[in-house]
Amino acid sequence: MEGYIDIHSHIIPKVDDGAESTETALRMLALAYREGVRSMIATPHVSYKKNESRYRQLSAAFSKLQEKSEQELPDLKLYFGSEIYYSQDTVHGLETGEIPTLAGTSYVLVEFTPSCEYRYLKSSLQNLVMSGFKPIIAHVERYYNLNKEIRMLEDLVAMGAYLQSNAMSILGENGREAKKVTKSILKSGLLHFIATDSHNESSRPPKLEKCLTMTRKRYGEKYAAELFMNNARKLLNDQYI
Ligand SMILES: [Fe+2]
Repeated sequence: MEGYIDIHSHIIPKVDDGAESTETALRMLALAYREGVRSMIATPHVSYKKNESRYRQLSAAFSKLQEKSEQELPDLKLYFGSEIYYSQDTVHGLETGEIPTLAGTSYVLVEFTPSCEYRYLKSSLQNLVMSGFKPIIAHVERYYNLNKEIRMLEDLVAMGAYLQSNAMSILGENGREAKKVTKSILKSGLLHFIATDSHNESSRPPKLEKCLTMTRKRYGEKYAAELFMNNARKLLNDQYI
C-alpha cells in the first residue's frame, strides 16, 4: 500500500512552535507511520520579509532530520516545504527561492490572519496564481469571513486556490464552530486535502486514522482517498488537481 500523505506538519525540531527536539520529532514520525502515513511534507512557519530569509537554517535542520528519519523509518518519505504567513513580499521570496514551496513543486501552503477580509484573501491568492503558484489555504476552517457563504470558497477554488482542513477540526477537537464549518466544506465537495498540522505528540499529534475512518463512513471511499492520498500524490508530482 502506498500510504497516506500528510502535507502539513511542524516536524522540524526547534525552528518554530512545532517539535521541540529531535527526539520528539522522531517519536512524532513513528506515530505518523503507525497511523499509516508514508509521505510527509515538513512545513515550518515562514514569515518572510525581503532580505530576511531563513531558508538555509530551515533547510539544514530539515536535512538533519531527514537523515535520522531515513535510518529509523526507511519507508517514510520526508519532503521539505513551508507554511507561509502571507505578506506583500511572499511572491518575491518564492521567486527568489528564499521561501520553500511544497516539495519543490509549484504548490504553496499559505495562511492569513483568521479575521482577514475576503477581498484581501482573494487578491493575495490571485497574486500567487498569476505568479505561477498553486496556493493551498491552510486550515481553511479558521477564516470566519470566508466561511459564512460557501459561494466565496467556490470562487476561490474556481480561481485556482486549493483548500486544506485539519483532521482535528473535522473530528470536533478544535471546537464546535470548526467542526460545523469543516462539515459544510466537506459536504460541498470543495475540500482538497486533510492534513494533521501536527506540532507535538500530545495536544496536536500527527494522527489521521480516526479522521480517515469517519470521512470514509460519511463521505465515501472515493472522496476519502482523494483527501488523504490521491490529491497529495498529484501535488507531489506537481500536477493539477
Ligand atoms: Fe501549521
